[in-house]
Amino acid sequence: MIVQDRSGRKSKPALVLLLLIHALALPTAAPAGESAPSRYTTVPASADGIGKVYLGREIAQVMSFHGAQWLERAERVDEERPELVLAALELKPGMTVADIGAGTGYYSWRMAQRVGASGTVYAVDIQPEMIKLLERQMSRRGAANVKPVLGGLTDPGLPPGSIDLALMVDVYHEFEYPYEMLAAIVRALKPGGRLVFVEFRGGDAAVPIKPLHTMTEAQVRKEAAIHALQWVKTARDLPWQNAIVFRKLSSFQR
Ligand SMILES: C[S@@+](CC[C@H](N)C(=O)[O-])C[C@H]1O[C@@H](n2cnc3c(N)ncnc32)[C@H](O)[C@@H]1O
Repeated sequence: MIVQDRSGRKSKPALVLLLLIHALALPTAAPAGESAPSRYTTVPASADGIGKVYLGREIAQVMSFHGAQWLERAERVDEERPELVLAALELKPGMTVADIGAGTGYYSWRMAQRVGASGTVYAVDIQPEMIKLLERQMSRRGAANVKPVLGGLTDPGLPPGSIDLALMVDVYHEFEYPYEMLAAIVRALKPGGRLVFVEFRGGDAAVPIKPLHTMTEAQVRKEAAIHALQWVKTARDLPWQNAIVFRKLSSFQR
């Protein structure tokens, strides 16, 4: 997904990865269960999109498990500063949290350390192969409190009212059914539970990520506002991303 470095030059390893991830991007699933066609419109698919538009943005292709190595790249520590992302989450021992679109579990095990043995991390992904990679990583790291969950396209399959905090890092823009997924995630949150979007900053020329794999803060807030979510804060001190935090509202009228 990285196409150029901060100075605007193409970065060779990133470009190779980009081509690989592109070539391996998952085909769009058949729209079985498309619940509200009027929510989504169709356009000719762009190179890294699925040709489906939601609230003015084309949905990006899902990153295939074949590109999973990219998620574990060493440079991520400097590019994303995960310790700052985690600080924004304000996790406490004993919490029940979810890492939605967990991939290989890069954030799952970091959350697992913070919620401790008395806490639980549900690590959700839609690709069974990604779940296998995640299981291998978690057992290598001894993260026994991470529970892998194979989610669906419209519902992560978490128990209703059970989650203190749900995290989505670099995934929301890939949801094929963003409206349905957000509604299901909100149902899974406890009253007052929090939902955090971490997205590469859209419209920022210094962020070397393909546009469909970025989102502006305004777009995230527009899409969240349709649900029972109240904006709490945005951590804007990350190198390339925003971490946008919402709280579940106890009463909500559309
Ligand atoms: C770019 S990766 C990010 C992985 C991880 N969050 C990280 O930052 O390392 C996006 C992941 O989201 C997953 N994904 C896409 N749509 C999903 C959905 N509807 N439910 C759960 N996972 C999904 C993909 O399978 C992929 O593993």
